[in-house]
Amino acid sequence: MHTQPFDAAAGARRPVGEDGPGCLDRDRLHAGIVDPEMDSMRILSETAMKFPAALSFSSGAPHDGNHDLSKLSYYTDRYLKHLEDQGVPRQRITRLMFQYGPVNGFIQDEVVRMLRHDEDIEVGPEAVMITHGFQEATLVALRGLFSSPDDVLLAVSPAYVGIRGAARMLDIPLRPVPEGPHGLDPEDVAAAARAVRAEGRRPVAVYLVPDFSNPSGTVVPLDARRRLLEVAAEEDLIILEDNPYGLFAPDGEKMPTLKSLDERRRVVYLGSFAKSAFPGARLGYLIADQEVTDADGTRRALAQELSKAKAMFTVGSSSLSQAVIGGMLVDHDYDLTTPTRELAAVYLERLDAALRALAEHFPPERYAEHGVRFNTPRGGFFVVVEVDFEADLAAMEHSARHYGVSWAPMRMFHLDGGGRRALRLGISNLDPQDIRTGIARLARFIADTPRTGV
Ligand SMILES: Cc1ncc(COP(=O)(O)O)c(C=O)c1O
Repeated sequence: MHTQPFDAAAGARRPVGEDGPGCLDRDRLHAGIVDPEMDSMRILSETAMKFPAALSFSSGAPHDGNHDLSKLSYYTDRYLKHLEDQGVPRQRITRLMFQYGPVNGFIQDEVVRMLRHDEDIEVGPEAVMITHGFQEATLVALRGLFSSPDDVLLAVSPAYVGIRGAARMLDIPLRPVPEGPHGLDPEDVAAAARAVRAEGRRPVAVYLVPDFSNPSGTVVPLDARRRLLEVAAEEDLIILEDNPYGLFAPDGEKMPTLKSLDERRRVVYLGSFAKSAFPGARLGYLIADQEVTDADGTRRALAQELSKAKAMFTVGSSSLSQAVIGGMLVDHDYDLTTPTRELAAVYLERLDAALRALAEHFPPERYAEHGVRFNTPRGGFFVVVEVDFEADLAAMEHSARHYGVSWAPMRMFHLDGGGRRALRLGISNLDPQDIRTGIARLARFIADTPRTGV
């Protein structure tokens, strides 16, 4: 497989004066391209390929044990059969698969039924847009909601790199709201909104992952969820709820999504099939049931209005991916909770293996000696480890090359420059034995790295 080195963006160096026709000054490209922080998504997903000999804790790639190539055609056929059973003529099905399709997609009905079953979310198909993953859902939502350079996005910090990247690519200013051990505190969101307003700018929306956040694994408690919805109404904010990990909660611990509690239509829900199905489909969805009123009084769901952005970003989502995921939903009777229980058990076992191995290598009572602390999330794909040295990309590469273990610098996720002495371990793609071996290697790397104090 061909892989590029991380510094590929810099390209081959040429002596000054050798620039020929067609050469562009990099500094004149968009800030989102020039900013090295915008390389984080690529780095996270390519670290495992770059260091094939290392055990990789770098990404949140899902477990690949259950994948089976024959399922791709099985689910596609299942979906096509489902359309036939509904009386859709063969010629129309053929056009649907081979032609440009509806911009907002064609599996909204199936997604609506899944949301009702899995998340207790009640929306009509007109409020759903099928997107190219969470990432496009976010770009579309941000593009539609932010109309002035003074519109500010509040975002939990640390946060998934996809939100910072999407905001940056659209030149939307971000205001970090630091989270605590229980995720975003609603009063901090209210205070941040007021502070932005006091500067003469408009806080438009707040982004968070209420369930097993990436990177910190936090879960927002139920009363804070209710309060967040109140704050959103009081401060006139839209909540951008990103929820790829909620289905993987331990038995009996699944929390209601903000969207399911959203009586005042304050939440735009950004869904992904990356973890509940598979990321290669690059499929997700946006739920926006807010009513938009025209000058002539016509009302349409926000998801319909946002269609213009979707059309101009990607025209529509892949018919093949929609058929595969649609078939999967039909085949499982619109219930992804039951099939993901087995997968949840796999992830919880991995998380447990990681936390036990960390506790063994870094007992809290010997903190003064090893200088390491780690959090203990109840679910999700990630553990955060605080160390006593700069855990940057160079340190990660050294760890991967010389100790056979890679991870992600927490700095990549902090929106406010923090996280320099912390790293994120993604436990989802390694089996428990590899996790134990990987953490033993990490312990050696940490022991050999000079502590620099704070
Ligand atoms: C917080 C968060 N949101 C969304 C996603 C999935 O995004 P996408 O559907 O674009 O693959 C991930 C995947 O790592 C994630 O961690």
